[in-house]
Amino acid sequence: MLASPEEVAVVAADLVARTVSRKPDAVIGLATGSSPVALYDELAARVAAGALSFAGCSAFMLDEYVGLDAGHPERYRTVIDTLFASRVDIDPARVHGPDGLAADLATACADYERLIAETGGVDLQILGLGSDGHIAFNEPGSSLASRTRIKTLTSQTRADNARFFGGDLAAVPRHCLTQGVGTILDARHLLVLATGEGKAAAVHECVEGAVSAMWPASAMQLHPTVTIVVDEPAASLLQLRAYYQETYAHKPDWQRF
Ligand code: GLP
Repeated sequence: MLASPEEVAVVAADLVARTVSRKPDAVIGLATGSSPVALYDELAARVAAGALSFAGCSAFMLDEYVGLDAGHPERYRTVIDTLFASRVDIDPARVHGPDGLAADLATACADYERLIAETGGVDLQILGLGSDGHIAFNEPGSSLASRTRIKTLTSQTRADNARFFGGDLAAVPRHCLTQGVGTILDARHLLVLATGEGKAAAVHECVEGAVSAMWPASAMQLHPTVTIVVDEPAASLLQLRAYYQETYAHKPDWQRF
């Protein structure tokens, strides 16, 4: 629980850096959305300063819209290239995403699952949180055991994301390919970022509520290693807020993650 989104980005970057320094060929799971943007800025700055290198790393994106052509600025692959891959020293050939333009989408999903497994699985998965508790594009009602598949976006998510399409709801695709909740839970460490009051209910439900398909991110309660980094507004509805604060304040450095 931190005072500002900037601090959230720094703490999250520390965890990414620690993962890569322990395992230079780490597999990083990349999220889109606005939540990780400041983290990607921080990582790019550290790489530029020579303090961090992704040269040996691979990366897997969480999700992709169906049908946005290769040059579309909101295609998630383009977004990840712009915000992360082009600004760090990762080999672009080792940055993977589901193929939302594949002629056979179901096969593309199965191939994606296979590629993640063949690469050894994700070491650190960066995640944002939808205001309705979705992770990647696993909307409420998603099976907690789901794998990469085609999903229909809810009108809530399409409305939330219309801001990236110049406010034009009709331009937001109706379908996407997304890693499943089960796929995400296979990552060895989950790093969840949430900032702002709009995420407060989702943070509370997913951390302290019942594990339920109605709040897909609540599945992270079943994962042994989750770091959730939030600012104060996003933490404002947490019932055990004071306890979390105390725990964090008194954690020795070696135990911080
Ligand atoms: C999008 C993405 C998610 C993201 C979420 C939250 O729909 N598919 O990966 O975590 O919504 O977005 P934001 O971080 O912009 O609030």
